[in-house]
Amino acid sequence: MYTIPHLVLPRIPGLERIDTYCAHGGYQAYRKALTMTPEQVIEEVKKSGLRGRGGACFPTGLKWSFMPKGNDKPKYLAVNGDESEPGSFKDRQIFEYNPHQLIEGILIAGYAMGISKAFIYIRGEYHKWIRSMECALQEAYDRGFVGKKMIETFGGDYWIDIVVHKGAGAYICGEETALMNSLEGDRGYPRYKPPFPAQKGLWGMPTTINNVETIATVPVIITLGGDQYASIGAQGHPGTLLYGLSGHINNPGVYELPTDVLLTDLIYTYGGGVTGNKKVKAVIPGGSSMPPLRGDEIENVVMNNEDLKKYGTFIGTAGVIVMNEDTDIPRVLLRIVHFYHHESCGQCTPCREGCGWMEKILKRIVDGDATGEDLDLLLSVANQIEGNTICALGDAAAWPVQGFLKKFWDDFAARVKPRRTFVPLNVVHGRRASKDILLPT
Ligand SMILES: Cc1cc2nc3c(=O)[nH]c(=O)nc-3n(C[C@H](O)[C@H](O)[C@H](O)COP(=O)(O)O)c2cc1C
Ligand code: SF4
Repeated sequence: MYTIPHLVLPRIPGLERIDTYCAHGGYQAYRKALTMTPEQVIEEVKKSGLRGRGGACFPTGLKWSFMPKGNDKPKYLAVNGDESEPGSFKDRQIFEYNPHQLIEGILIAGYAMGISKAFIYIRGEYHKWIRSMECALQEAYDRGFVGKKMIETFGGDYWIDIVVHKGAGAYICGEETALMNSLEGDRGYPRYKPPFPAQKGLWGMPTTINNVETIATVPVIITLGGDQYASIGAQGHPGTLLYGLSGHINNPGVYELPTDVLLTDLIYTYGGGVTGNKKVKAVIPGGSSMPPLRGDEIENVVMNNEDLKKYGTFIGTAGVIVMNEDTDIPRVLLRIVHFYHHESCGQCTPCREGCGWMEKILKRIVDGDATGEDLDLLLSVANQIEGNTICALGDAAAWPVQGFLKKFWDDFAARVKPRRTFVPLNVVHGRRASKDILLPT
């Protein structure tokens, strides 16, 4: 068993209220950060090895260091709480149970990068969690922990405003550049990169976009120090993650565990095993866009990005979806692809058309109307989407198709008709018996 450090979701009743949070050392990390220079704060985050929790695992300290220095322009922070990847439901736990740690993380990130305004972008369907975040933010403003009054409360000359912004329920608005368009009041269309947000972000100004869990981890790093944080979990991808367990699992839920946890421990020790005591057929390790693991390869899998790469997949958002031995794999893939097809913003042809084609082919497979050629065609469409689109939604649709076909080819092959045999058409033309024709003399 592991010693389980609960860093982002400590088990303290009432922690969502500012008094309880302060009674347990809340807002002390920000006070500590103020004793350091902004560069030192960024250095500490770099040392911690913290990687973004929004899916791409980008090193957070490095991202922060891309922000230009100086205060000649306003700079923004957008905290990404769109959380729409199927299988991911961790950020809402922070909104509900530890919102002040997120606010404190924003203060520290803001101080480190010289941010004047931060937005917490929350997916539109999260009514309850939007309310809990708004409540916590109001408490923080009332106490003088956010806004101009921060100068009186904490000293120094830094202050920041924070706004909770409701999304309108589109998966694509979680993509960082689409999120910025959405915040500006435009349609959530992803933008071309470069320029990157740190160069030209919200309203053309330098902007950093980080996931909710990423920012909520920052106060812990400042409290513990980067080196100590880096010693928790796996070396290449340190810390704890909020693993969201769902699917055929007895105890689904969010579990905060170090990144060196075994997948089998997640499933059997923490998740209470597979429902009906069935065997595992497949596991998606990090939200629906990540390629799956086969049931026969999950032994010894360590749940962090570096270790998962050995199995051709990634940690993504750590949304772990368990599927038992009775799972209809082609149907699962059809459901996943339907989602990405539905959520494609339609700007680029490979994603807009390709997702539709993949859905149609998968429907044929599931309905028993497909032939062997359809499997090759499906793979070829996925290969042509990957890497050829403006944003990574195209990849998010292609990866599960490539991954499921690679690891479960037999499940698909069993559903298709034998390869079509061609009966050559008679293309020759024989001379017709013609009526007597009077040729001109
Ligand atoms: C289609 C799509 C949807 C995304 N949705 C989310 C999301 O809901 N939440 C999130 O934090 N990141 C999401 N991302 C990743 C963001 O673009 C961005 O990389 C992330 O917010 C950066 O934060 P991090 O560095 O802290 O991980 C999405 C990316 C894509 C391509
Ligand atoms: S990849 Fe898809 S979602 Fe992203 S910009 Fe292109 S069409 Fe839109």
